[in-house]
Amino acid sequence: MNNAGYRYPFTPYPNAWYFVAETHGMKPGDERNATICGTVIKFRMRRDGIVLLGTEMQCHEDDGKLFVLWGKPQSTSIELPHISEFHDNAWMQPFHLVFRTRTHVQEVAENAIDLAHFSRVHDYLADPTLFDFHLDGPRFFVSMQAPRKLLGVTRHPIMDITYYGLGVVESTVVTESVTVKVLLTSTPINEETLEIHQWIAIKRQGPLRDMVYRFFLPHIIYREFSNDFPIWENKIYRHKAPLCTEEKNIATIRRWARQFY
Ligand SMILES: [Fe+2]
Repeated sequence: MNNAGYRYPFTPYPNAWYFVAETHGMKPGDERNATICGTVIKFRMRRDGIVLLGTEMQCHEDDGKLFVLWGKPQSTSIELPHISEFHDNAWMQPFHLVFRTRTHVQEVAENAIDLAHFSRVHDYLADPTLFDFHLDGPRFFVSMQAPRKLLGVTRHPIMDITYYGLGVVESTVVTESVTVKVLLTSTPINEETLEIHQWIAIKRQGPLRDMVYRFFLPHIIYREFSNDFPIWENKIYRHKAPLCTEEKNIATIRRWARQFY
């Protein structure tokens, strides 16, 4: 059962770069719009790139993806990642997954460092070993490893995750059998709805293995990522949360996130 109403003691729209829309296929003169943070963002393709219409916001277009800086201009000094693997012949073209869930954008960041949940909510066989976790201004970086079954075989993926503010995440996952590069974006659509996009490229290994991973990984990732949603949609935000040892870094992320409010 979902809790009714807004559940957080801070704005649903923290300052961040948020993904707005893909711009692939737009020709000069084309106009489109998309709603983020309860606001309609109108944009037009010009010969020299995208411009926003009727708004003072900063925008950034890269690789057919439009982002806007939500909040006061210069309120954050976040540089957005450019994923060169998405244009490298050693990698397959990225596939794209879209999710909508009723939660706050900060929950996704807290989730990345919630070590206790990987084996309980996702398909990992044990709590991750944390190699690195450090803050870097508007960014934070996590590196960890945890065993899991992948296509029936136990693997030991190493996950390197970089958050660029609350809205944009780059990660690399390396296992014994496959390597993937991920761009994940979290965008509040309105006070209750978060839209999450993932673009995922798989490193090529040969036609047969490529076909297998290209077929199975979207299903595996879609199902497993969605396992967080029933929790996100029902949990209550407690400012002084009783955290267990494996969750204690969540307090660090909450302090880090204050710079965006
Ligand atoms: Fe999760």
